[in-house]
Amino acid sequence: MKPLTITSRLEVYDSIDEVPQDVQDLMQKAIEVRDAAYAPYSNFKVGAAIYLENEEIVVGSNQENASYPSGLCAERTAVYYAGAKFPEARILRIAISAKSMRHKVVSPVPPCGACRQALVEYEVKQEDPIELYFMGETGKVVKADSVKDLLPLVFDSTCL
Ligand code: THU
Repeated sequence: MKPLTITSRLEVYDSIDEVPQDVQDLMQKAIEVRDAAYAPYSNFKVGAAIYLENEEIVVGSNQENASYPSGLCAERTAVYYAGAKFPEARILRIAISAKSMRHKVVSPVPPCGACRQALVEYEVKQEDPIELYFMGETGKVVKADSVKDLLPLVFDSTCL
């Protein structure tokens, strides 16, 4: 037996004011689109904004359904929209912000496991990492250089 130790290096910024201006602008898009979330069941609204190499920005918010599993997270709404509209454009960056209608979300909210899996598919496809920045409603912003930093031992097409 040999132990396998997996580490990820993330960056934590004290507030949105500390991240580079272009990332602040992208996060602002995520914050704006967050309000368009349809979240009557969870009252938890998430916005995601994706910056593509062709300089287009594609956004998404979570869309819920009375049949709960039929709903979709903000990140997947955005990344599938990007894939559908600009299939050839590499994804450079995604910014994510979450807000609860019940309490103030002050801790960074990372993408769920299913969204990490969906995002890593595009990272593998484009052979280039996707930067992630995520936050709550206010407070710290976390940066990951790659989806793989949030999803070690990834299952991808090379496993098939
Ligand atoms: N949600 C997202 O949009 N992204 C995530 O990564 C986590 C969860 C949504 C799904 C659901 O509409 C609500 O937040 C509560 O889970």
